[in-house]
Amino acid sequence: MRVPSHSINVRLLYVSRAAGPQTTTMTTSILAHAKANNAQQGITGVLCQGQGFFFQVIEGQRSRVNALFRRIAVDARHKDVEVLHYEEIQERLFGQWSMALVHLSVDDPMVRLQHPDFDPYSASGPQVMHQVMDLLAAGQPIELPRA
Ligand SMILES: Cc1cc2nc3c(=O)[nH]c(=O)nc-3n(C[C@H](O)[C@H](O)[C@H](O)COP(=O)(O)O)c2cc1C
Repeated sequence: MRVPSHSINVRLLYVSRAAGPQTTTMTTSILAHAKANNAQQGITGVLCQGQGFFFQVIEGQRSRVNALFRRIAVDARHKDVEVLHYEEIQERLFGQWSMALVHLSVDDPMVRLQHPDFDPYSASGPQVMHQVMDLLAAGQPIELPRA
Protein backbone atom coordinates (compact mmCIF):
# COMPACT_ATOMS: atom_id res chain seq x y z
CA MET A 1 0.00 0.00 0.00
CA ARG A 2 1.33 3.42 -0.94
CA VAL A 3 1.39 6.11 1.71
CA PRO A 4 2.81 9.62 1.50
CA SER A 5 6.51 9.32 2.32
CA HIS A 6 6.33 12.17 4.81
CA SER A 7 3.92 10.14 6.94
CA ILE A 8 6.43 7.31 7.38
CA ASN A 9 8.21 7.63 10.72
CA VAL A 10 11.26 5.65 11.75
CA ARG A 11 13.46 5.09 14.78
CA LEU A 12 17.21 4.64 14.37
CA LEU A 13 19.67 3.52 17.03
CA TYR A 14 23.42 3.66 16.59
CA VAL A 15 26.50 3.25 18.69
CA SER A 16 29.83 5.03 18.23
CA ARG A 17 33.15 5.61 19.97
CA ALA A 18 34.11 9.11 21.06
CA ALA A 19 37.11 10.37 19.09
CA GLY A 20 38.50 12.11 22.19
CA PRO A 21 37.57 12.84 25.80
CA GLN A 22 33.82 13.24 26.35
CA THR A 23 33.96 16.69 27.85
CA THR A 24 31.05 18.78 29.09
CA THR A 25 31.96 21.39 26.49
CA MET A 26 31.55 18.89 23.69
CA THR A 27 28.26 17.56 25.05
CA THR A 28 26.88 21.07 25.53
CA SER A 29 27.80 21.97 21.99
CA ILE A 30 26.23 18.83 20.52
CA LEU A 31 23.03 19.26 22.53
CA ALA A 32 22.68 22.95 21.76
CA HIS A 33 22.82 22.16 18.07
CA ALA A 34 20.60 19.11 18.40
CA LYS A 35 17.91 20.92 20.32
CA ALA A 36 17.54 23.75 17.80
CA ASN A 37 17.84 21.60 14.71
CA ASN A 38 15.78 18.63 15.90
CA ALA A 39 12.88 20.76 17.12
CA GLN A 40 12.75 22.44 13.73
CA GLN A 41 12.86 19.06 11.96
CA GLY A 42 10.33 17.36 14.22
CA ILE A 43 13.04 14.95 15.39
CA THR A 44 13.07 13.51 18.91
CA GLY A 45 15.34 11.12 20.77
CA VAL A 46 17.92 10.48 23.40
CA LEU A 47 21.71 10.61 23.51
CA CYS A 48 23.47 8.35 26.00
CA GLN A 49 27.12 9.08 26.56
CA GLY A 50 29.87 7.84 28.78
CA GLN A 51 32.61 5.25 29.03
CA GLY A 52 33.91 6.42 25.66
CA PHE A 53 30.68 5.51 23.86
CA PHE A 54 27.72 7.29 22.40
CA PHE A 55 24.36 5.60 21.94
CA GLN A 56 21.77 7.71 20.21
CA VAL A 57 18.15 7.10 19.28
CA ILE A 58 16.70 9.38 16.62
CA GLU A 59 13.02 9.26 15.63
CA GLY A 60 10.95 11.23 13.16
CA GLN A 61 10.12 11.41 9.47
CA ARG A 62 12.17 8.88 7.57
CA SER A 63 13.91 11.23 5.14
CA ARG A 64 14.73 13.66 7.95
CA VAL A 65 16.11 10.93 10.22
CA ASN A 66 18.19 9.57 7.37
CA ALA A 67 19.52 13.03 6.48
CA LEU A 68 20.44 13.77 10.09
CA PHE A 69 22.13 10.41 10.46
CA ARG A 70 24.23 11.05 7.35
CA ARG A 71 25.49 14.27 8.96
CA ILE A 72 26.07 12.71 12.36
CA ALA A 73 27.90 9.72 10.86
CA VAL A 74 30.63 11.95 9.38
CA ASP A 75 31.04 14.10 12.51
CA ALA A 76 34.71 13.97 13.53
CA ARG A 77 33.84 13.98 17.24
CA HIS A 78 33.15 10.27 17.03
CA LYS A 79 34.08 7.21 14.99
CA ASP A 80 33.07 3.61 14.34
CA VAL A 81 29.45 4.72 13.91
CA GLU A 82 27.34 1.60 13.54
CA VAL A 83 23.58 1.29 13.20
CA LEU A 84 22.23 -1.24 15.68
CA HIS A 85 18.53 -0.90 14.94
CA TYR A 86 16.23 0.74 12.38
CA GLU A 87 12.47 0.36 12.30
CA GLU A 88 9.29 1.98 11.08
CA ILE A 89 7.21 3.22 13.98
CA GLN A 90 3.61 4.16 14.69
CA GLU A 91 4.44 5.94 17.94
CA ARG A 92 7.44 7.73 19.32
CA LEU A 93 9.15 6.56 22.50
CA PHE A 94 10.98 9.82 23.21
CA GLY A 95 8.39 12.28 21.90
CA GLN A 96 8.84 14.79 24.68
CA TRP A 97 12.56 15.33 24.08
CA SER A 98 14.14 17.09 21.11
CA MET A 99 17.21 15.29 22.49
CA ALA A 100 17.42 14.01 26.04
CA LEU A 101 20.81 13.27 27.53
CA VAL A 102 21.67 10.30 29.70
CA HIS A 103 25.10 9.94 31.26
CA LEU A 104 26.32 6.36 31.34
CA SER A 105 28.26 5.44 34.43
CA VAL A 106 30.07 2.19 35.05
CA ASP A 107 27.10 1.09 37.16
CA ASP A 108 24.52 1.46 34.43
CA PRO A 109 22.82 -1.68 33.17
CA MET A 110 23.83 -0.82 29.63
CA VAL A 111 27.48 -0.72 30.53
CA ARG A 112 27.08 -3.96 32.47
CA LEU A 113 25.47 -5.53 29.44
CA GLN A 114 28.50 -7.65 28.75
CA HIS A 115 30.75 -6.57 31.55
CA PRO A 116 33.71 -6.78 31.96
CA ASP A 117 34.22 -7.06 28.22
CA PHE A 118 31.52 -4.54 27.44
CA ASP A 119 31.11 -4.54 23.69
CA PRO A 120 28.02 -2.71 22.42
CA TYR A 121 29.06 -3.55 18.88
CA SER A 122 28.06 -7.15 19.42
CA ALA A 123 24.88 -6.39 21.38
CA SER A 124 21.46 -6.92 19.83
CA GLY A 125 19.78 -3.69 18.66
CA PRO A 126 16.38 -4.32 20.27
CA GLN A 127 18.14 -5.29 23.50
CA VAL A 128 20.10 -2.03 23.59
CA MET A 129 16.90 -0.12 22.76
CA HIS A 130 15.26 -1.69 25.81
CA GLN A 131 18.25 -0.75 27.93
CA VAL A 132 17.95 2.86 26.82
CA MET A 133 14.25 2.87 27.75
CA ASP A 134 15.05 1.23 31.10
CA LEU A 135 17.62 3.94 31.83
CA LEU A 136 15.00 6.61 31.23
CA ALA A 137 12.29 4.78 33.16
CA ALA A 138 14.63 4.14 36.09
CA GLY A 139 15.16 7.86 36.45
CA GLN A 140 18.82 7.80 35.54
CA PRO A 141 20.33 11.28 35.21
CA ILE A 142 18.72 13.09 32.35
CA GLU A 143 19.51 16.62 31.37
CA LEU A 144 16.98 18.40 29.28
CA PRO A 145 18.69 20.65 26.81
CA ARG A 146 18.19 24.21 28.01
CA ALA A 147 16.71 26.82 25.75
C1 LIG B 1 27.22 11.95 19.18
C2 LIG B 1 26.66 13.07 18.35
C3 LIG B 1 25.27 13.29 18.32
C4 LIG B 1 24.72 14.32 17.55
N1 LIG B 1 23.36 14.50 17.54
C5 LIG B 1 22.83 15.48 16.78
C6 LIG B 1 21.42 15.66 16.73
O1 LIG B 1 20.62 14.96 17.39
N2 LIG B 1 20.94 16.67 15.95
C7 LIG B 1 21.77 17.51 15.22
O2 LIG B 1 21.28 18.39 14.54
N3 LIG B 1 23.11 17.35 15.27
C8 LIG B 1 23.65 16.37 16.02
N4 LIG B 1 25.01 16.21 16.05
C9 LIG B 1 25.84 17.18 15.30
C10 LIG B 1 25.96 16.78 13.84
O3 LIG B 1 26.88 15.70 13.72
C11 LIG B 1 26.48 17.94 13.00
O4 LIG B 1 27.55 18.56 13.64
C12 LIG B 1 25.44 18.99 12.81
O5 LIG B 1 24.18 18.44 12.52
C13 LIG B 1 25.89 19.90 11.67
O6 LIG B 1 24.86 20.77 11.38
P1 LIG B 1 25.10 21.99 10.40
O7 LIG B 1 25.49 21.38 9.07
O8 LIG B 1 23.78 22.67 10.35
O9 LIG B 1 26.18 22.81 11.02
C14 LIG B 1 25.58 15.18 16.80
C15 LIG B 1 26.95 14.95 16.83
C16 LIG B 1 27.50 13.92 17.60
C17 LIG B 1 29.00 13.71 17.62
